[in-house]
Amino acid sequence: MSQSQNTLQQQALTVRENAYAPYSNFRVGAAIRAISGQVYTGCNVENVAYPEGTCAEAGAIAAMVAAGETRLTEVYVIADSPHPVTPCGGCRQKLAEFATGDVVITMANLDGAEERITLADLLPGAFGEHHLDNS
Ligand code: THU
Repeated sequence: MSQSQNTLQQQALTVRENAYAPYSNFRVGAAIRAISGQVYTGCNVENVAYPEGTCAEAGAIAAMVAAGETRLTEVYVIADSPHPVTPCGGCRQKLAEFATGDVVITMANLDGAEERITLADLLPGAFGEHHLDNS
């Protein structure tokens, strides 16, 4: 594991501790590296009105954008699951807004299992800006 991945892993693990998941009891931490090198983190935040809950990735993306950055280069997601946790469909689209297809997403669990996949492979046929071009 590279030094930068180690940092992302540590930060994702740390922020996961703050996950608010009283309904699913499934705590998720996400760390994303922006193009500046700065790391932003997020955890899932559930709500008694279930659809209002937000994913860890969404929180990390919001923190990045709030800090004035809009390009990301690396993603790490961790949860206590039998298999490394994959971003949900909505989060794949959210990541695609701020990342190119070659960005690597590392998915991990607490047992040390890790899987890496590019965003292009996670979200084939992504809806993109080019679809809006009707001129
Ligand atoms: N969740 C995330 O935060 N990220 C993922 O990649 C998968 C799912 C959250 C949403 C919900 O709070 C809980 O995990 C169970 O689905």
